[in-house]
Amino acid sequence: MALTLTKLFLFSFLVSSTVLTGNSQPLTSKREKLTRFRVYVQDRIAGSNATVLHVAQAPTTNQSTTSFGLVTVFDDALTVGPEMSSKNVGVVQGTSAFASQSEVALSMSMNFVFTEGKYNRSSLTVVGRNVLSLKVREMPIVGGTGLFRLARGYIQTSTYSLDLKKGLAVLVYDFFVYRY
Ligand SMILES: *[C@@H]1O[C@H](CO)[C@@H](O)[C@H](O)[C@H]1NC(C)=O
Ligand SMILES: *[C@@H]1O[C@H](CO)[C@@H](O)[C@H](O)[C@H]1NC(C)=O
Ligand SMILES: *[C@@H]1O[C@H](CO)[C@@H](O)[C@H](O)[C@H]1NC(C)=O
Repeated sequence: MALTLTKLFLFSFLVSSTVLTGNSQPLTSKREKLTRFRVYVQDRIAGSNATVLHVAQAPTTNQSTTSFGLVTVFDDALTVGPEMSSKNVGVVQGTSAFASQSEVALSMSMNFVFTEGKYNRSSLTVVGRNVLSLKVREMPIVGGTGLFRLARGYIQTSTYSLDLKKGLAVLVYDFFVYRY
């Protein structure tokens, strides 16, 4: 079973041998350590409360079976469990471009901003290719801010549920982050 984000944060805090003090010691003189955690993304794809907006498309996008040329912007809630009512731990904001003419594949750029516990206001940036037909998609973590300065790693994501009537997709994101 997935531990809650808070427990994982506590766990990673307890096992870490170094704690960032905010002093002038260079980060890279500290030991890099692996932090793993899971969050759920609440992706409201339709309705008046949509958190994903279609902002642009090409004149040919409507004729494309892969929506080639469509660009969306999103601002989705992060929760510790799959239910929308479960504890909120931040937001993920970014853009997706439907960037393939041969399959439904997104070129994504997103910032995960955390608002809970010791990671409050720290962020992680994920940039990569997301092939929606794959059960598990992987994208690189290219950096971060706050406690995630100089972070690197990867995420694995899959669709937990998709309810077109409600206009809600829930996605699971598993983070594997090396940080100082
Ligand atoms: C949209 O927001 C309103 C007001 O916050 C809320 O009452 C409603 O349940 C929301 N709709 C959905 C589909 O979440
Ligand atoms: C594409 O389809 C959407 C939704 O049906 C419509 O609003 C839009 O006008 C269409 N765009 C073009 C260029 O045909
Ligand atoms: C996160 O930081 C903001 C700004 O400092 C603060 O207002 C908020 O209470 C903090 N949240 C938690 C859960 O610590």
